[in-house]
Amino acid sequence: MPNELPAIYPLGIVGSGQIARMLHSAAVQLGITPRLMAEDSGDSAALAAPGASFRHPDALSSFAEVCEVVTFEHERVDLGLVRYLEEAGAVIRPGSTTLRAAMDKTHQRRILLNRAFNVPPFAELRGPDDMLDFAEMFGWPMVIKSVRSGGQADRGSWVVDNERDALRVMAEQVGRDLMIEAFQPIVKELVVLVARRPGGNARCYPVAETVNADGACREIRIPAAIGSRIATEAMETARRIAGELDAVGVIAVEFFLTTDGLVVNEIAARPHNAGHHTIENAPTSQFENHVRAILDFPLGPTHALAKACVTVNVIGGIETVDPAVHLAEALAVEGAHIHLYGKRPRPGRKLGHVTALGDDMDQARELARRAEGALMNRRPA
Ligand SMILES: Nc1ncnc2c1ncn2[C@@H]1O[C@H](COP(=O)(O)OP(=O)(O)OP(=O)(O)O)[C@@H](O)[C@H]1O
Ligand SMILES: [Mg+2]
Repeated sequence: MPNELPAIYPLGIVGSGQIARMLHSAAVQLGITPRLMAEDSGDSAALAAPGASFRHPDALSSFAEVCEVVTFEHERVDLGLVRYLEEAGAVIRPGSTTLRAAMDKTHQRRILLNRAFNVPPFAELRGPDDMLDFAEMFGWPMVIKSVRSGGQADRGSWVVDNERDALRVMAEQVGRDLMIEAFQPIVKELVVLVARRPGGNARCYPVAETVNADGACREIRIPAAIGSRIATEAMETARRIAGELDAVGVIAVEFFLTTDGLVVNEIAARPHNAGHHTIENAPTSQFENHVRAILDFPLGPTHALAKACVTVNVIGGIETVDPAVHLAEALAVEGAHIHLYGKRPRPGRKLGHVTALGDDMDQARELARRAEGALMNRRPA
C-alpha cells in the first residue's frame, strides 16, 4: 500500500527560496514530512518539495490549520494575520513579536536601544527636514534604509554622500517607509547565529565574517579574523538579543565591527546566508537546528568542525551564465561542496553557494573560489 500524506503536518514552511528549500531537506532528513507553501511550482523550494501549496499569502489561514508549527523563511509576512492566527491557537515560530522586530527596522532599533544594545544613531525619514536635521547632527555620508526588511527580494539600503544624492534616493523610493542612519566606520562585518528553543535553551554558532561588495555578500569566512574578546562579546550579545526578542528558531544578528567596537546592524529571524557553511562545518546545520528549535527538540552542537571554512556565493552576472550547465566542471574541484538552488539566472540573483573546509583560510578560499569560478564559467586568473 502506498504511503499516504498526513492529514496534519508536524511542520509548515512558508517560502519559495533557498532557505525554505534547505529547511525542507533538513526536516526530511529527520524523517519529518513538512508541508511547504511557496508562490509558484517553479520556485527553488517548491522544486524540492512535492505536494507544496501555493498562492501565499492568501492561503496562510488554511495552511496553518493543517500544520502543527508554521515557520517563515523571509520577513515579508502579514503581521496582522500572523497575530490573528496566533490568537486563534496557531503555533507560529518565531512568533509575531520576534517577526515584528525583524521586519521593521525602526522598531528593531528602538527595542535594541531601549535594552542598551549598541546601534548606529538613526531617525525616521519622513521628508527632507528629517534628512537635513540628521546631517546637521551626524554629517555625511549617511545611510538611507527601507524600514521594511527586504529579505532577499530587493535592495534596501543606500549610502548617500550629500543632500542631492539623498533627495534623489528619496524620490526614487517614494511610497516606501524610510529611515536614516549614521554611516559607520566598518572594519569588518560579522554575523552570529543563535538557535533557541521555547523556554530559552540556546546555542550559538561561531562568529562568521562576511565580505560584501556592491551591496551583496560575496564570501563568508569562519572563524572571523577577530580577537577572542570581540568574538565572545558578539556571541554573548547575539544570545542576549535572542532572549530579549523571545526568539524561537534560528536568528541571525549582523554586526559591524567599527573602529569604536561592535555595533548591531540588523536581525534576521530565520536561518541566514552567513550560516550555510554549517551544513558541512558544524555537527548540526543551522537548518536542522531551526527545525529542532521550533519543534522543541534538543538542539545539536554548533561548534566549527574545520580550522578554516569559506563559503562563496554563486551570484548571477551580467552575462547570463547558468551555473547548472557547468556543474560537472565544478564537481571536479575535489573537496568543494556545491549547492545550487534550482533558480533561473538573473544578474545579482543568488543562485547557489560553494563551501570549502581546510586547515588554513587561503587554502579553503582557493578551493571554494575555484569551484565557483567553474560554475560561472570563468577562466582561472
Ligand atoms: N550604517 C551603516 N554604515 C555603513 N555601512 C552600512 C550601514 N548600514 C548598512 N551598511 C552597508 O550596507 C549593507 C547592507 O545593509 P543592511 O544589512 O542594513 O541591509 P540589507 O542586508 O540589504 O537589508 P535586508 O536584509 O533588509 O534586505 C551592510 O552589510 C553594510 O555593508
Ligand atoms: Mg544585512
